[in-house]
Amino acid sequence: MARRSRGRTVLSPSLLSADFGILAEQVRAVERGGAGAIHLDVMDGHFVPNLTIGPPVVKAVDRISPLPLDVHLMIEEPDRYLEAFRESGADWISVHVEAVHHLHRTVTRIRQLGASPGVVLNPATPLPALEEILESVDFVLLMSVNPGFGGQAFIPSALAKVAALKKMITHRGLGTRIEVDGGVDAGNVADLVRAGADILVAGNAIFGKGDPAENARRLLRRMREAEG
Ligand code: DX5
Ligand code: ZN
Repeated sequence: MARRSRGRTVLSPSLLSADFGILAEQVRAVERGGAGAIHLDVMDGHFVPNLTIGPPVVKAVDRISPLPLDVHLMIEEPDRYLEAFRESGADWISVHVEAVHHLHRTVTRIRQLGASPGVVLNPATPLPALEEILESVDFVLLMSVNPGFGGQAFIPSALAKVAALKKMITHRGLGTRIEVDGGVDAGNVADLVRAGADILVAGNAIFGKGDPAENARRLLRRMREAEG
């Protein structure tokens, strides 16, 4: 049987580890390095023990970058802010299954607003939580660290979770994309692509040290090699 060729995997650098004093420069660097999206981490100090950015920063990045903005909402009651994020330029909006009471309603609203909806699972949330929602979303984001901070170590069990989710998606004949976020680096990126990941988020591995453009290129090289 002919092998269906996969779409190219996308690198979505997380600005959480970027230098906000020179944000425009950092965004341009990852564009030069081949990034396919920009990942923005929104935290509310309730769902996760950290505070980050809101719609004004998303809007600022939207003004300077043509890339899709991949907005990861780590907040309670995300419904209250969906419109504001969409108006600020969010193209992909993901919400945590652990944070939303009426997930189908939230996902439907994201689509109505013209954005691409995704759902996120924390490391301890099992895949069956997706049973009833998988067909309504464009992507599933699997956390490979507990959300809240950049620079944490990759939780190895995430790799098997990616492979199991890929099976679930294929079995249902869906085209849902798999995004992985947390501790992604040059050491695990190839394994993640081979397991079925389509979108890889990296913060510390890109902005931690060295040139972000070169760091992005290095990750992308490994991703391309693993695509096969
Ligand atoms: C963690 C965030 C991640 C984080 C990834 O809560 O959702 O997007 O920025 O950063 P690294 O790649 O450093 O783990
Ligand atoms: Zn994130």
